[in-house]
Amino acid sequence: MAAVSTRPATVVILDYGAQYSQLIARRAREARVYSELLPYDTPWNEIEKRRPGAIILTGGPESTLAPDAPGLDPGVLASGLPILGICYGMQLLARDLGGELVPLAHREFGPAQLCVDANDSSLFLGVAPESRVWMSHGDSVVAPPPGFVALAHTSRCAIAAIGDEARRIFGVQFHPEVVHTDYGSAVIENFLHRIAGIAGDWDMGSFVETAIAGVRAEVGAASVICALSGGVDSAVAATLVSRAIGKQLTCIFVDTGLMRKDEARNVLAAFRDVLHLSVIGVDAEERFLARLAGIEDPEEKRIRIGHEFIAIFEEEAKKIPGVKFLVQGTLYPDVIESKTPGSKAGHKIKSHHNVGGLPERMDFGLIEPLRLLFKDEVRAAGRVLGLPKAIVERQPFPGPGLAVRVLGACDRERLETVRRADWIVTSEIDASDDLAPKPWQYFAVLTPLRSVGVMGDGRTYANLVAVRAITSEDGMTADWARLPHALLERISTRIVNEVPGVNRVAYDITSKPPATVEWE
Ligand code: XMP
Repeated sequence: MAAVSTRPATVVILDYGAQYSQLIARRAREARVYSELLPYDTPWNEIEKRRPGAIILTGGPESTLAPDAPGLDPGVLASGLPILGICYGMQLLARDLGGELVPLAHREFGPAQLCVDANDSSLFLGVAPESRVWMSHGDSVVAPPPGFVALAHTSRCAIAAIGDEARRIFGVQFHPEVVHTDYGSAVIENFLHRIAGIAGDWDMGSFVETAIAGVRAEVGAASVICALSGGVDSAVAATLVSRAIGKQLTCIFVDTGLMRKDEARNVLAAFRDVLHLSVIGVDAEERFLARLAGIEDPEEKRIRIGHEFIAIFEEEAKKIPGVKFLVQGTLYPDVIESKTPGSKAGHKIKSHHNVGGLPERMDFGLIEPLRLLFKDEVRAAGRVLGLPKAIVERQPFPGPGLAVRVLGACDRERLETVRRADWIVTSEIDASDDLAPKPWQYFAVLTPLRSVGVMGDGRTYANLVAVRAITSEDGMTADWARLPHALLERISTRIVNEVPGVNRVAYDITSKPPATVEWE
């Protein structure tokens, strides 16, 4: 379904496969302009349906001089819309509009000093005459197309920006979307606001309102279900849908017995008492423990947990009459069509399911009200919807829960051990409000290792707990957090004193890569 029925003024970003394409979408949204990223070969009649107010062409790994270089639908150029080409996008404009390009003997990569030659150009208003930009290109425009003028240069790139003010078509060889480009946001804002005349009036409040209206229109009188995990995505999706259709939505919250201390109770209370969602709580601890008994292999544990979850969800869903739709908290990075230029493969939509496998197995329509949002925008939507801070700012927590933080086979006792240790780690770090930066995620892991210790006058032979605290932007890469020694000492002392069966604590000082965040 489309999450928004009436579209705000949109900038369509045609993706030529640059690493930074999503960043362009982000920068546009930061300028409060709604943006959508589409594959570069989206036909003009599809682009037109979005009623765009401007087009941005991204960078890409190919050369426009190659015989089968990814091109641009002529309809885009004929549309009269303002266009900004970035890197490959600029070269494509130059090529298609009659400019001249040459391959560089040496690629220009990294920071460069941009000198603006046309400081009255609307693209560079407010940009310093000289500033740092980020370059990454192998070809260069050596003569702008007819009607265009060169607007800027760097020491190694004689034409680093071109523009035709009358036709509102511009190109920049550098990457305005990356933070290493000093005035990058100014260039993008100039293009969107001044040149394209798109008002920066897109905000989360209006997004939420439009999305609610869209859900209401889509669902009609049907019943809808949603699996709540306690995480921010499903919580925001469910709350938004419930604002649209009230009691037609039933949420199912499965307590797997693999959650942290008091978590299941708190999550359920927040959904029922604060957000007033109608939630069926299923206590399934025994079922999950039975499925996990004696299973040591991490993948097998994950698979079993996933299957059990789906089985329980299906059983509960069958009890609710007239269900036609399932709500999923899918986010934008998961649905962006990623197509490598030059590949002959058809479009592939990556669709991530919070509850893996459900949509394929169940004959429901999907409602994905967050499918156009990035993670931090989901948190902003959560705030607009009045979700409690504890949910909006909740740390990521793996679907299989504490089962992947008890290495090897897990049983009730080992889960309780890691739960207690985890409680100490999280409460000590949460209580240290002077940490800068605050770790992005932190938890305890119970290892299968035992070692010798001494407590009182007696020998112990007990478990090793590892503490993991990381800094990260998105969990894709991570560094271990440099926690103060005094804090680590408090955590360690409390764990060995307060958690039965643990006599040693280690701190994980591995980054990702090569390690992962979770141990399993
Ligand atoms: P890894 O261990 O892959 O974790 O470096 C990266 C981030 O993802 C979280 N994680 C999961 N989240 N379901 C989830 O929703 C999962 O199965 C899962 N496994 C790992 C992990 O906590 C970290 O933030």
